[in-house]
Amino acid sequence: MKRVQKSPTTLISFILFIIIFGGAGPAAALWGSDTAEEENSKNAATTLNDSYSQKIRPMKTVECARCHESVFNTIRDNGGKHRQECRLCHTTFHTYRPGSDWQQAVPNCETCHGEFHGAEFKGCLECHGDPHAPIAGLANMDSLSKNCSTCHNIQSGEVNQYPSAHTELECNECHHSRHGYVPDCTECHTEPHTTFTDNSDCSSCHPAHRPTDIHYSDDTPSAACSSCHEDTVTRLASTTKKHSNLQCAYCHSENHGNIPDCQKCHGVPHSQAMLDLFDGCLECHGDPHALVFPEK
Ligand code: HEC
Ligand code: HEC
Ligand code: HEC
Ligand code: HEC
Ligand code: HEC
Ligand code: HEC
Ligand code: HEC
Ligand code: HEC
Ligand code: HEC
Ligand code: HEC
Ligand code: HEC
Ligand code: HEC
Repeated sequence: MKRVQKSPTTLISFILFIIIFGGAGPAAALWGSDTAEEENSKNAATTLNDSYSQKIRPMKTVECARCHESVFNTIRDNGGKHRQECRLCHTTFHTYRPGSDWQQAVPNCETCHGEFHGAEFKGCLECHGDPHAPIAGLANMDSLSKNCSTCHNIQSGEVNQYPSAHTELECNECHHSRHGYVPDCTECHTEPHTTFTDNSDCSSCHPAHRPTDIHYSDDTPSAACSSCHEDTVTRLASTTKKHSNLQCAYCHSENHGNIPDCQKCHGVPHSQAMLDLFDGCLECHGDPHALVFPEK
C-alpha cells in the first residue's frame, strides 16, 4: 500500500518541478532534448492541470444529445416551435427514481402555456402525443375526433345543416392519419364527372362539407355540364341562333337547377297585348336551347 501511495507524491513533486522551471528556455536547458516519454508525462501533467482549472459549464443541448440522441432527432426533424434548448424546459432533470412522481421530474405544459384551450382540454399529451413534437404528434385520431366539433363548430355546423352523404361520414374518415390532413376528393371518388387536378376543381361547385349545395360562377365552362347533359350541350352547340354563343351557366346561373325567366334578359320584346294571347315565350320560340319554332 505504501509503495502505491508514494508514487502520486513523486508525481506531484515532478509536476511542481515543471511548474517552477516550466515551459521556456531554462527548463529545456535543464531537461536537455525531449524524449517521447518525457513529452508524454508533460502532456499528462498539463491536461490534468487544465481540466481542474476549468469552470463547470451547464450542459448544452448537443451535450444532452450525446445520450438522448433520439429526443434530439425528434425535435430537430419535427419539433416545430419546440426547437428550443433542452434546458429551457428541463430546468431540472435526472431526478426521477423508481417510485417517485414522474410528473415532478419532467416539465409541465401548463407552466408555459396555461390551460391553452380552456379548462375542458387538460390532458395535453393525449392529443399532442409527443412533448418534443407537439404539432406533428397530433396523430391520435381517437382522442382528437371526440373534439373536432368543439374546436371546429363552423364545419360541423355546415355538415349538419346541409344533410348529404358526407353527413353520414365521421370527420376523421376524411381527415384521417393526423390532425389537419386534407384528402383529395379522388381518394374516394375515383371516376369524377369532371377533370380533376386538385380539390378546387370540385369544391368550386361542391363545398366539401355541403356537397349537395351546388353553386358555380357565371363563367363556368359548359364542358363542366356535358358529362351529364350531353343532349342539351349538343343541341345548343348546333343551333344557329344567338343562344349558342352562351355558356350554360350564364343562363342557369349560381346554383344547379336554376331555371331563368326569359324576361329577366329580354324584358318585353313584343307588344304586351300580343304576349297576353300566348302561354309564354316558348309557345312560339320552342326549346330555349335551340330557339326553333315548335312543329305543330
Ligand atoms: C418545450 C419543452 C421541452 C423541450 C425543449 C425539451 N423537452 Fe424533454 N420533455 C418535455 C416534457 C414536457 C416532457 C415530459 C413528457 C411526459 O409528461 O411524459 C419531456 C420528457 C423528456 C424525457 C423523458 C421522456 C422521453 O421522451 O424519453 C427526456 C429524456 C427528455 N425530455 C429529454 C430532452 C432533451 C435531451 C431535450 C433537448 C434535446 C429536450 N428534452 C427538450 C419538454 C421539453
Ligand atoms: C451521460 C448520458 C446523459 C446525458 C449527457 C444526459 N442524460 Fe438525461 N438521462 C440519461 C439516462 C441514462 C436517463 C435515464 C434513462 C432514460 O430515461 O433514458 C436520463 C433521463 C433523463 C430524463 C428523464 C427524467 C429524469 O429526470 O430521469 C430527462 C428529462 C433527461 N434525462 C434530460 C436530460 C437533459 C436535459 C440533458 C442535458 C442537459 C441530459 N438529460 C443529459 C443519460 C444522460
Ligand atoms: C418551458 C416552456 C414550455 C413548456 C414546458 C412547454 N412549451 Fe410548448 N412552447 C413553448 C414555446 C417557447 C413555444 C413557441 C412559442 C412561439 O414561438 O409562439 C411553444 C410552442 C408550442 C406549440 C406550438 C408549436 C408549433 O410548432 O407551432 C405547441 C402545440 C405546444 N407548445 C405545446 C406544448 C405541450 C403540449 C407541452 C407539454 C407537453 C408544452 N408545449 C410545454 C414553451 C413551452
Ligand atoms: C383534444 C385534443 C387537444 C388537447 C387535449 C390539447 N390540445 Fe393543444 N392543440 C390541439 C390541436 C388540434 C391544435 C391545433 C394545431 C394546429 O394549429 O394545427 C392545438 C394547438 C395547440 C397550441 C399551438 C397553437 C398555435 O396556434 O400555435 C398550443 C400551444 C397548445 N395546443 C397547447 C396545449 C396545451 C398546453 C394543452 C394542455 C393544457 C393542450 N394543448 C391540450 C389539440 C389539443
Ligand atoms: C383543441 C382544438 C382542436 C381540435 C380538438 C381539433 N382541431 Fe383542427 N384545428 C385547430 C386549430 C387551432 C387549427 C388551425 C386553425 C386555423 O388555421 O384555422 C386547426 C386546423 C384544422 C384543419 C385545417 C388544416 C389546414 O391545413 O388548413 C383541419 C382540416 C382540421 N383542423 C381538422 C380537424 C379535425 C377533423 C379534428 C378532429 C379529428 C380536429 N381538427 C380537431 C384546433 C383543433
Ligand atoms: C367527405 C370528406 C370530409 C368530411 C366528412 C369532413 N371534411 Fe373537413 N374538409 C374536407 C376537405 C376536402 C377539405 C378541404 C376543403 C377544400 O379543399 O376546399 C376540408 C377542410 C376542413 C377544414 C379546413 C377549413 C375549411 O373549412 O376549409 C376543417 C377545419 C375541417 N375540414 C373540419 C372538418 C370537421 C370538423 C368535420 C366533421 C364535422 C369535417 N371536416 C368533415 C373533407 C371532409
Ligand atoms: C373519405 C371518402 C370521401 C372523400 C374524401 C370525399 N367524399 Fe364525397 N362521398 C363519399 C361517400 C361515401 C359518398 C356517398 C356515396 C357516393 O355517392 O359515392 C359521397 C358522396 C358525395 C356526393 C353526393 C352527395 C349526396 O348526398 O348525394 C358529392 C357531390 C361528393 N361526395 C363530392 C365530394 C367532393 C367534391 C369531395 C372533395 C371535396 C369529396 N366528395 C370527398 C366519400 C368521400
Ligand atoms: C360545374 C359544377 C360541378 C363541378 C366542377 C363538379 N361537380 Fe360534381 N356534380 C355537379 C352536379 C350538378 C351534380 C348532380 C347533382 C344532382 O344529381 O342533383 C354533381 C354530382 C356529383 C356527385 C354525385 C354522384 C354523381 O356522379 O351523380 C359526385 C360524387 C360528384 N359530383 C363529385 C364531384 C367531384 C369529385 C368533382 C371534382 C372532380 C366534381 N363533382 C366537380 C356539379 C359539379
Ligand atoms: C353529375 C351530373 C350533373 C352535372 C355535372 C350537371 N348536372 Fe344538371 N342535372 C343533373 C341531374 C341528375 C338533374 C336532374 C335531377 C333534378 O331534377 O334535380 C339535373 C338537372 C338540371 C337542370 C334542370 C332542373 C329542373 O328543375 O328541371 C338544369 C337547368 C341543370 N341540371 C343545369 C346544369 C348545368 C348548367 C350544369 C353545369 C354547370 C349541370 N347541370 C351539371 C346532373 C348533372
Ligand atoms: C341570361 C339571359 C338570357 C335569358 C334568360 C334568355 N336569353 Fe335570349 N338571348 C340572350 C342573349 C345574350 C341573346 C343574344 C343577343 C344578341 O346577341 O343580340 C339572346 C338572344 C335571343 C333571341 C334572338 C336569337 C337570334 O339568333 O336572333 C331570342 C329569340 C331569344 N333570345 C329568346 C329567348 C327566350 C324565348 C328565352 C326564354 C326561354 C330567352 N331568350 C332567355 C340572353 C338570354
Ligand atoms: C339562353 C339561356 C340558356 C342557356 C344558354 C341554356 N339554358 Fe338550359 N334552359 C333555359 C331555360 C329558360 C330553360 C327552361 C325551359 C322550360 O321552361 O321548359 C332551360 C331548361 C334546361 C333544362 C331542363 C329542361 C330540359 O331541357 O331538359 C336543362 C337540363 C338545361 N336547361 C340544361 C342546360 C345546359 C346543360 C346548358 C348548356 C349546354 C343550357 N341549359 C343552356 C335557358 C338556357
Ligand atoms: C306569338 C309568337 C311569339 C311569342 C309568344 C313570343 N315571340 Fe319572340 N319572336 C317571335 C317572332 C316570330 C320573332 C322574330 C323571328 C325570330 O327572330 O325568330 C321573335 C323575336 C324575338 C326576339 C328577337 C328580337 C330581335 O330584335 O332580334 C326576342 C329576343 C324574342 N322574340 C323574345 C321573346 C320573349 C322573351 C318572349 C316571351 C316573353 C317572346 N319572344 C314571345 C314570336 C314570338
